[in-house]
Amino acid sequence: MQFPVYRPRRLRKNENFRRMIRETHLWVDQLIYPLFVVPGEGVKRPISSMPGISQFSVDYLVQECGEAKKLGIPAVLLFGIPEKKDELASEAFAGDGIIQRAIQSIKERVPEILVITDVCLCEYTSHGHCGIMKGDDVDNDATLDLLAKTAVSHAVAGADIVAPSDMMDGRIQAIRRALDQEGFNEIPIMAYAAKFASSFYGPFREAAESAPQFGDRRSYQMDPANSREAMREVSLDIAEGADIVMVKPAMPYLDIIRRVRDEFDLPLAAYQVSGEFAMIRAAAQMGWLDGERTMMEAITSIRRAGADIIITYAACEIARLLRST
Ligand code: PBG
Repeated sequence: MQFPVYRPRRLRKNENFRRMIRETHLWVDQLIYPLFVVPGEGVKRPISSMPGISQFSVDYLVQECGEAKKLGIPAVLLFGIPEKKDELASEAFAGDGIIQRAIQSIKERVPEILVITDVCLCEYTSHGHCGIMKGDDVDNDATLDLLAKTAVSHAVAGADIVAPSDMMDGRIQAIRRALDQEGFNEIPIMAYAAKFASSFYGPFREAAESAPQFGDRRSYQMDPANSREAMREVSLDIAEGADIVMVKPAMPYLDIIRRVRDEFDLPLAAYQVSGEFAMIRAAAQMGWLDGERTMMEAITSIRRAGADIIITYAACEIARLLRST
């Protein structure tokens, strides 16, 4: 076809035309809202590198979940910051640990919202790595037992979905087996399947107080340069029993999201991580970008790439915007 037979602008004339031919839609049903829970009462501590986001004590956390529920958000994703950290991450799987108490309170007071828990040890270890150390590296197989214990303790407390983010080999199988053994064969696993060793996690490490005290996470998280390897990670997690797979971060990895969508048929989640969120918020604060429109465009691009579910700190803001349009 040659110009002027086809004139793309004919169908862009006004919002009704645009609405009618729009290919990608965003619903509040597709959003997961991550939250940080800290010890204490009456605590709402803003995270400086994530404008608008705070750490909450359990009482405020429950309120925030109520807010999210009112906005129609189906699920929250919880991260816990414990009172005490140690070499073995003991508070990660303690029956009365911060996250276990948080789950119980949400389930009592806002039972309608799904509680997803991040299963990882980095917030709970004194060294800030995602597992048990052997010399200066993480001991994969020794870590599996603790991850499985942690996941089971979340299920016991009432979690609806567990989401392992540690990137140890074999963790999905270890967690699936432990959950099944304890009678939790109905609890799904959302696997951080293709999780890259990304600088975009910077602000999160302030929020979760989980920066590694030495070294970095490149011996367990993926090299940002690899795409074929991401497919292997995803197929492994599926073979081991994952119910939902995730790509993380989202916007710098849209090609990975698209590949996973094309090659696998499980529900696919993408995590718009702290750095992606912070960049947009910071530029908006400077007056350099329109914060709301940029956020919607970023989220839409992640949907268009093929994500079914998007984990975003802007979930409440987006839910409000979707209501008003
Ligand atoms: C825990 C974990 C991290 C994130 C989610 N789970 C940090 C990391 O791997 O260092 C990052 C989330 C974000 O940046 O928003 N391992």
